Amino acid sequence: MKQHPGGVAKGERIVIAVDGPAGAGKGAVCRAVASRLQLAYLETGAIYRALGLLALREELQDADALVARATTMPFTYRALGAGVFGAFLAEEEVTTALRAEEIGQSASRIAAIPAVRQALLAFQRRYGGSQHVILDGRDVGTIVWPDADLKIFLTASLEERAERRVRELQGAGKNANFTEIYAAMAERDQRDAGRTTAPLKPAEDALLVDTTHLTLAESIAHVLQLIKNTLNQAGFTCRESFVESQ
Ligand code: DC
Repeated sequence: MKQHPGGVAKGERIVIAVDGPAGAGKGAVCRAVASRLQLAYLETGAIYRALGLLALREELQDADALVARATTMPFTYRALGAGVFGAFLAEEEVTTALRAEEIGQSASRIAAIPAVRQALLAFQRRYGGSQHVILDGRDVGTIVWPDADLKIFLTASLEERAERRVRELQGAGKNANFTEIYAAMAERDQRDAGRTTAPLKPAEDALLVDTTHLTLAESIAHVLQLIKNTLNQAGFTCRESFVESQ
């Protein structure tokens, strides 16, 4: 039987890859569908962000030091409740700390180093064990799981993504300047898409979902339906709030 790179035989579990640029809604959509369908979920950006956080805290600069930290950092990603997931470094919850713009930029910089990406691959492929799993990121469908059962490329216009980020920050009671956020997002898009190793780009067999004119609820409904179809086609019974093998 064909093996997934994660070691679990293809057909024993479903792997769903959701890639796309910052602010396209990947996280919100994936958290909701993972919760509704009881799938394991990994926000792969949180791994890069956690290493980005450690890089700033510990002043790690050269590639060797970053690779060494990538292999020793005590990162875990946990389901904490319905639609709620948390990132931890050992027992320190860093979910909120990881959202800071400077951490995103740090993550994007270290993510351009091929050896760092390589060091973080095994964790992503093992994640979820034998459970159906959904992973979101930039290169899940191209590099981490080229053999994924369903690949979605979730995107939205840069302007809309920047507006969403402004609303998110304002909702959290923080100052948000559209022009600055737009520029920072454009810079990050360019770095993520322009790097030579694992650049942000849709896999050839990815389904493109443009959320520019969709509400979050509409985006969730759309992706939920795509996943249900994949589970059904692979012979898994799928019901909202739980999935079982036939
Ligand atoms: O999805 P995010 O914004 O949390 O990701 C933060 C940064 O990490 C992003 O700018 C690029 C990098 N990243 C990556 O290179 N590959 C991934 N699979 C996920 C994130």
